[in-house]
Amino acid sequence: MKGIVLAGGSGTRLHPATLAISKQLLPVADKPMIYYPLSVLMLAGIKEILIISTPRDLPLFQRLLGDGSQFGLDFSYAVQREPRGIAEAFIIGADHVGDDSTALILGDNIFHGQAFSQVLAENSRDVEGCVLFGYPVRDPERFGVAEVDRLGRLVSLEEKPARPRSDRAVTGLYFYANDVVEIARSLRPSARGELEITDVNRAYLEMGRARLVDLGRGFAWLDTGTPQALLQAGQYVNTMEERQGVRIACLEEVALRMGFIDAETCYRQGARYRNSPYGQYVMSVAEQHGYRLAISA
Ligand code: TTP
Repeated sequence: MKGIVLAGGSGTRLHPATLAISKQLLPVADKPMIYYPLSVLMLAGIKEILIISTPRDLPLFQRLLGDGSQFGLDFSYAVQREPRGIAEAFIIGADHVGDDSTALILGDNIFHGQAFSQVLAENSRDVEGCVLFGYPVRDPERFGVAEVDRLGRLVSLEEKPARPRSDRAVTGLYFYANDVVEIARSLRPSARGELEITDVNRAYLEMGRARLVDLGRGFAWLDTGTPQALLQAGQYVNTMEERQGVRIACLEEVALRMGFIDAETCYRQGARYRNSPYGQYVMSVAEQHGYRLAISA
């Protein structure tokens, strides 16, 4: 399975904070926002990841993340000239997807919850159509909304409905079979001029090939689109990290646990930021995984 992080958009709701820099590069607690969606793809076992952003911001993502080898990953980059919709990611990323299935995650979505790795592993295997992840929210009219029947089968999908048929929002993580590229290419822009991801998902629903996985109330799916939501997401992450002494979306740690890098590489990465608590944490994780600094006589 290939991965795509869509990290473009205009971030107008965060102006002036995003006048000069991408939303997805702003810090959420102790790390750039894009670390969170990247960690999700890594936990799903995905190593080849395309990062899509604006012509203005793409060089900054390249400077931050490089070729991905420091995490045992393979990053590539592509530009989205205008925010013409989430589904455009598959047209831009067609060569990257190749003959594979694909996972798309929005660059401003934060997921955190128990057994999430297991949920990801179970649902990324043999994707036959599309797999969506639903989450109960107080204000479903702001999102794509999924309705399921009594047996949990998906029956309808609507984009920002005035009268939502359920409280289940469709989150910004999607798994697709290879024909998603073809489906995206066949779409027409919506009334707001975008290639809508909900239209892609509806095409799968009509073919009887769409599935919804419920993330449930014990889980955290956080939004970072407004100043208040961004601050609250940072507070959530900070609270969890302070309380438990572990970090959320520490890419070096995820890479080590997934077997993408060894403890020595992990330690060396941490040592690059030894002045920051993040760097010190990465070094300590490497030590817990058996890395011993060679002491010269
Ligand atoms: P939005 O939050 O809908 O849009 P935005 O980030 O531009 O912010 P605002 O509404 O404040 O102007 O986008 C959700 C995510 O998808 C976000 O990570 C940006 C990304 N995105 C793109 O990269 N390209 C697009 O064409 C669209 C519509 C969104």
